[in-house]
Order: sequence, then C-alpha cells, then structure tokens
Amino acid sequence: MYWLDRKNKQIAEMFSSISPTYDLLNHLLSFNIDKMWRRKAISLLQDSVFLDVATGTGDVLLEIKKRFDNPKLIGIDLSLDMLKIAKRKVEGAHFVCTPAEHLPFNDNVFDGVVIAFGLRNVVDRVSALFEFKRVLKSGGKLVILEFNRPVNRFFGRLYEFYSFTFMPFIGRLISKDKNAYTYLPKSIRRFPDVEFLKSMMESVGFKDVYYKALTFGVSFIHCGVKP
Ligand SMILES: C[S@@+](CC[C@H](N)C(=O)[O-])C[C@H]1O[C@@H](n2cnc3c(N)ncnc32)[C@H](O)[C@@H]1O
Repeated sequence: MYWLDRKNKQIAEMFSSISPTYDLLNHLLSFNIDKMWRRKAISLLQDSVFLDVATGTGDVLLEIKKRFDNPKLIGIDLSLDMLKIAKRKVEGAHFVCTPAEHLPFNDNVFDGVVIAFGLRNVVDRVSALFEFKRVLKSGGKLVILEFNRPVNRFFGRLYEFYSFTFMPFIGRLISKDKNAYTYLPKSIRRFPDVEFLKSMMESVGFKDVYYKALTFGVSFIHCGVKP
C-alpha cells in the first residue's frame, strides 16, 4: 500500500485540470519537437512488453505502437483525467491509476520502461527508480526523457525567456490554469542535473548508464539496463 502525499495529490490535480488542453499546448509550445524527442527515446527500446510511466495522454504509447508489431502496452499515471484521454487515444493498451513510486506489477515483467517528461514531477524519485528496476526483466531497459537546462549560454538565455515568460503566458491563456505553466519551468530548475541523474540510476543498480542531449540540451535522454 502506498499513501499519496500532499504533493502527489496536488500534482495529480494540476495535471487533471490541464488535461483537456494538454496535447494542444504540448505540441504548440514545443513546435512539435516533442514528437521527435519521444521517437528518439523509443528507438532505444527492444521488443515487446512495455510500461509507460506517467503516461499522461499516452503519446509515448502511440509511438511505441508505430514502431513495434503487437507490443504489450501498459500506461500508468497519477491523474485519472489524463488517463481517460490516453484510453481514448491508444487502442489495446491497459491503464492503471497509480504512482510511479508504487507499481502494482510483479518483478521482472517488462522489456522496457519509459518515463517521458514525468520524472521531474515524481516526489520520491529514488523509490520510483527502484520500482522501475524491480519490474524490468534482466537485460530490460529504462529510458528517461526529461527537460533540462540548455548548456549553450546564448541558447540558455533565450530558453529562460521562453520558458519563464512566453510559455506561462500562452499556457494560462489556453489552459485557463494560472499555475501549471509557471510550475513547469520551476520544476525544470529544481530537477537534478544530468550527471546527478546518471549517478542516481547507477546507485539504484542500473548498468551501462548514459545520457545524450537533444536540441541543444533542452531535453535529455538517460538510458540504463537492468543487470
Ligand atoms: C508532463 S506530463 C507527461 C505525459 C507524457 N508522458 C508525455 O510524454 O506527454 C507528466 C505526467 O506525469 C504524471 N505524474 C506526475 N507525478 C507522477 C507520479 N508520481 N506517478 C505517476 N504519474 C505521475 C502527471 O499526472 C502527468 O500526466
């Protein structure tokens, strides 16, 4: 049994409140680059049983479906409203409303676990990483796709303006949620840097851990294998 703490509940409520406009804003604010990032992350996976953690509206699962023949797909999320949209979009997938910190699955069942733009929001990241390792088969891969802070100074400044001024303005206008799109850049700032995340994955027991930057370091993919 896992008790959701206050922060988990607030995060679930926030995502539920923006769920109707989530897809529109996601693609609009990233100029559709988010789709390419997800495709890159998924290209690291191998057949055939997949868990998408913090699946949201199911875009990762849609990409997995395009790439693999008859994959077995499970998506989990804290927000029931996000999951309702995912269920309509991804035929044949199964969905469970549960936190990443407590996965209701047996040990050693998945070939791949993916979490895209979700780990930043997870309250207890270490417990979540242990859970990802537990449910993966030996040789299975964990792929994390997450925003980070661009390394290039000029691009970094541009990105700061974009994410702290422009994005909250458009986000508020379309989603009508005052806080969600100011929370996003703040949560990116608070997220561990890429080396720290790599060492967290290694301490939990993943091997062959590496990361690579996407689009000047706006996003990063981290990948690790369960021994
Ligand atoms: C930015 S969305 C990402 C959705 C999707 N993966 C994508 O690529 O668009 C983050 C999602 O993480 C979910 N989430 C946040 N904390 C979570 C947790 N501890 N366990 C499971 N899901 C969580 C939210 O409800 C939200 O749907």
